[in-house]
Amino acid sequence: MKVNGQNMRTIWVEGDVVKIIDQRLLPHELKIISLGTLEDARAAIADMKVRGAPCIGATAMYGMAVAVRNDPSDITIKTAYDTLNASRPTAVNLKWAIDECMGAIDGVDETKRADILFALAAKNCDDDVAMCSNIGDYGKALLDEIATTKDGEVVNILTHCNAGWVATVDWGTAISPIYKAFNAGMNVHVWVDETRPRSQGARLTAWELEQHGVPYTVITDNSGGHLMQHGLVDICLVGTDRTTATGDVCNKIGTYLKALAAFDNNVPFYVCAPSNSIDWDMRDGLKEIPIEVRSGEQEVGWIMGRDEDGILRRVTTMPDPAKTRNDAFDVTPRKYITGLITERGITNASRAGLLALFPEKG
Ligand code: MRU
Repeated sequence: MKVNGQNMRTIWVEGDVVKIIDQRLLPHELKIISLGTLEDARAAIADMKVRGAPCIGATAMYGMAVAVRNDPSDITIKTAYDTLNASRPTAVNLKWAIDECMGAIDGVDETKRADILFALAAKNCDDDVAMCSNIGDYGKALLDEIATTKDGEVVNILTHCNAGWVATVDWGTAISPIYKAFNAGMNVHVWVDETRPRSQGARLTAWELEQHGVPYTVITDNSGGHLMQHGLVDICLVGTDRTTATGDVCNKIGTYLKALAAFDNNVPFYVCAPSNSIDWDMRDGLKEIPIEVRSGEQEVGWIMGRDEDGILRRVTTMPDPAKTRNDAFDVTPRKYITGLITERGITNASRAGLLALFPEKG
């Protein structure tokens, strides 16, 4: 997608240097940083310079590639795998990505490993863009149906967190259908959940939509149910960090509450799920998906933004000391999900539905 009119991806290689956007500073500053070592990649993921399940996966692959370029020995490969695997627990794309890397260099001569991994990471980025583009096309068809019933009136979409292009390599998952619909001339408007504590909606989704010219309104995390009760939401589109083989969806904390409100108000609730966000080994999302718990003191207790003089500051609104708790994800049981939008089409959130699209996983 475009930033200040220039095409950008979230991760790319310049010469032989891997570059990413430091998403912690958006929307205030567009800072590009380099990943030259395994530690750079680990810290980028753990400190959320990059975030969003597909973007984490793409970064992990390049993390394996730079680690192996620096030292192609078996011991370094194992260290790189374990280090990256431990950098964030919930998004399954991370493990998927490093498993792909291990498969690609299994039994390969040390001198050839780095080239293979760099080629794999580049291909994964292109594949990710293609998957997200397909999700956009399938999701747009749903928006087309709604637009037809509304006869040119605005189509209101609610989204949570950031599942736009900065959460992937390009296009995004949940925002991809919106970009496709907007590009085709549809009258769309996006309700953007602020998404505390890290405000991925207010900071990142709003920034993306603003850059692309898509109409949007940032709302507090508590507003969605009220808007749905008043007929102001036509469809919810969200992303996923891990979807079980049975269709339970783990996504940013607060997704579950939006699904409940959507269910109660007959608002269709769709999850945009590329296949590398599906964990085919898991059946019960509530019992099995590891939920990341981050520092409440740092993330709930403090918030960063620009003050009236334009200076970036961290401020707190709480008594010192205040107790905090910061579970970063929740699980939406499949019964609340209208459908999963994948790169191969749309299905209901069920094992049978997923296997109909991905029979090779049966
Ligand atoms: O903690 P984050 O910002 O990595 O969480 C991101 C989300 O929950 C996204 O909705 C999810 O990764 C889907 S991204 C296409």
